[in-house]
Amino acid sequence: MRLAVLLGVVGMVAWLPNVSMATQATRAPFGQTGDGKTVEIVTLTNTHGMRARIMTYGASLQSLLVPDRRGKLADVVLGYDSLQGYLDRRQYFGATVGRYAIRIARGRFTLDGKTYQLTLNEAPNSLHGGVKGLDMQLWKIVDLKQGPQASVTLEYVSPDGDQGYPGTLTIRATYALSEDNQLTIAYTATTDKTTIVNLSNHTYWNLGGEGSGTVMDQRLTIAGAAITPVDAASIPTGQILSVADTPYDFRTAKPIGRDIRDGRSQQLLFGHGYDMNWVIARSETTQPRVVARVEDAQSGRVMTLLSTKPGLQFYSGNFLDGTTVGKAEHIYRQGDAFVLEPQLFPDTPNHPEFGSARLDPGQTYRNTIIYRFSVDSGNATKH
Ligand code: BGC
Repeated sequence: MRLAVLLGVVGMVAWLPNVSMATQATRAPFGQTGDGKTVEIVTLTNTHGMRARIMTYGASLQSLLVPDRRGKLADVVLGYDSLQGYLDRRQYFGATVGRYAIRIARGRFTLDGKTYQLTLNEAPNSLHGGVKGLDMQLWKIVDLKQGPQASVTLEYVSPDGDQGYPGTLTIRATYALSEDNQLTIAYTATTDKTTIVNLSNHTYWNLGGEGSGTVMDQRLTIAGAAITPVDAASIPTGQILSVADTPYDFRTAKPIGRDIRDGRSQQLLFGHGYDMNWVIARSETTQPRVVARVEDAQSGRVMTLLSTKPGLQFYSGNFLDGTTVGKAEHIYRQGDAFVLEPQLFPDTPNHPEFGSARLDPGQTYRNTIIYRFSVDSGNATKH
């Protein structure tokens, strides 16, 4: 009898930590759009204190708490405390971008002999999906799961002809948080007519915490030996340029700001800093591979980025101009964040040599992005 009770207690004790080990997922209202629709926010948490908040407006990462080397949490993504900031100004904070991320020259492309004209929101080009991209749409929560990996799946059905894109596109974004401090975003899309698609996430990161100042001292590695240079209108010229002996060489870790003032670089002048696509590979993979890594020596936070896509847009927050008052009344200034967007090369539909953005009915488009967080203990050996 006594033994049975004892075993029961031991069993419960062994069971309890498993319960608290589970990651959690909850949902709540976050505000209303101008036309009175409710925007919801989902909170995913793990037992290390990591917490991701994802809102249905733009399927956006609204905040992400990540521990530093002492376990102290900070929100490492820029944005606003409430919905209104996101509605007032389109800055793509944390947002899902598409139907075609980055630029399409003159907003025009040809598919099976037919030319399509997209809406132009950055004349003469179409940027991040056009005048009303996925970042401005209200997505639906279609699934919510608790541990071992808490997740939320959001869905948006973009109608045939939306912003000029052919085909009804059913898009899903699944954000998942694991116990080992990994946030995954898995994008999928299917269509009822042949179309083009290129989705990515536009989170502005600062590993020191949003509002903590510049990211210019944070050390970046990009696993790419070339870039696709752009013209003065930020459209790829079609060249593939080796990064050797240029400010774009991040093959070994260096502070983001080390070479950003190199006036010999026309690309840095065009972009007001880094704003270009790195060639990670010439084709995509089924298994995500490491495409970049960022380390913040002060906090010890390290973010390793994995993706299945061949391109990586690195943008050094050049157009944050001190006019945005974000979370906790923080002013965001130029260089206060970096954006890393794994995707196809920009303007691929007009550059067959870059690959293909085509999606046919019956196929599933996929982009899996993994943000893996760890800490650097601060010892001499950093790599
Ligand atoms: C692009 C920039 C653009 C920014 C807008 C980035 O993805 O590379 O050129 O200005 O998005 O936030």
